[in-house]
Amino acid sequence: MKIQKNISLKSKNTFGIDVCAAKYVDILDENELIDLLSQSTFKDEPKLILGGGSNILFTQDYKGLVIKISIPGIKIIFEDEQTCLVKAGAGVIWNDLVLFAVEKNLGGIENLVSIPGTVGAAPVQNIGAYGEELQNSFHSLKGIFINTADETVFDKDECQFAYRDSIFKRELREKFIITYVILQLNKNPQPVFNYGMVKTEMEKLHKDKYSIKDVSDTIAKIRDEKLPNPTSIGNAGSFFKNPEIDKDQFLEIKKEHPDTPGFTTPNSMVKVPAGWLIEKCGWKGKRINNVGVHANQALVLVNYGNSRGLDILNLAAEIKISVLKTFGIELTEEVNIY
Ligand code: EPU
Repeated sequence: MKIQKNISLKSKNTFGIDVCAAKYVDILDENELIDLLSQSTFKDEPKLILGGGSNILFTQDYKGLVIKISIPGIKIIFEDEQTCLVKAGAGVIWNDLVLFAVEKNLGGIENLVSIPGTVGAAPVQNIGAYGEELQNSFHSLKGIFINTADETVFDKDECQFAYRDSIFKRELREKFIITYVILQLNKNPQPVFNYGMVKTEMEKLHKDKYSIKDVSDTIAKIRDEKLPNPTSIGNAGSFFKNPEIDKDQFLEIKKEHPDTPGFTTPNSMVKVPAGWLIEKCGWKGKRINNVGVHANQALVLVNYGNSRGLDILNLAAEIKISVLKTFGIELTEEVNIY
């Protein structure tokens, strides 16, 4: 374990923002982490936990210690007729775990193909796409409390999953480090593809029976076409969450904007696509110097060059103001801002 000093984080966040970490350490196993957190030298140092850096916007240099979690390994730890428990290190690239599952015909996470980031970051915001969320295949996770270096296990309920949310994004933010995630996958998978665009594309395959590989290939293709690849254009996927508003507010908005889309949620709220609201306010495809709103998906903010995090934050603030003025809806960020 080597603590490095004054390290650029440009290659370690998918927005490609060039900020500097005063101290930086790459962690390859949980004992190294326990060791690090037990050292009195680092007790009072602010700490930032970094996975794939795909859901973070840096707006300034980080004065403390950045702990990059690179714990590897994917292993089947239990199976019966129906299910299979797969344990993966927090540093595993999320998509590698999806490909592992699909290749073994283990169902549950195939719709979450091509989501950038690491396994350890996936539960933090309960990643989701095309009708699925991580929580639906989640079994448990293991991790370490930063203050005490104590190891503990969280089962699904304890994670308090919600839409792009969990206890790790709230009460345990900067207090807990995930080291392993265990998923419960299905050995007799039933592909799920009710989501409009996925359904349309799947039907073009004209098959009697669809495999989970068909689903993951189709979704990977859709994502490729719609979402910018961070290796060529800096971005962190959806910048905002899709807002949930109550029915009355939705009906009020409909009076003035009859074409507003909305989806009723299980808790009887209405989820409105933020991408639609942003597009309606005229932002889609707009570029201001080196930052902009992606031309194919208005929910994605992009860094075309050497932008600062503050340039992106300023753009986000302007977007929020215009959505608030036009629709009376307050957007909230999905990405973590530092
Ligand atoms: N829409 C527009 N204009 C846009 C973008 C979207 O009108 O510029 C409309 C679409 O026509 C569609 C609706 O909004 O009717 C939903 O669009 P889409 O299917 O692209 O999904 P989204 O709600 O914008 C969410 C997730 C994405 C995920 C997709 C697919 C959030 C915040 N985002 O986006 O997740 O890939 O669904 O399931 O929930 C991410 O979290 O980083 C992410 C990319």
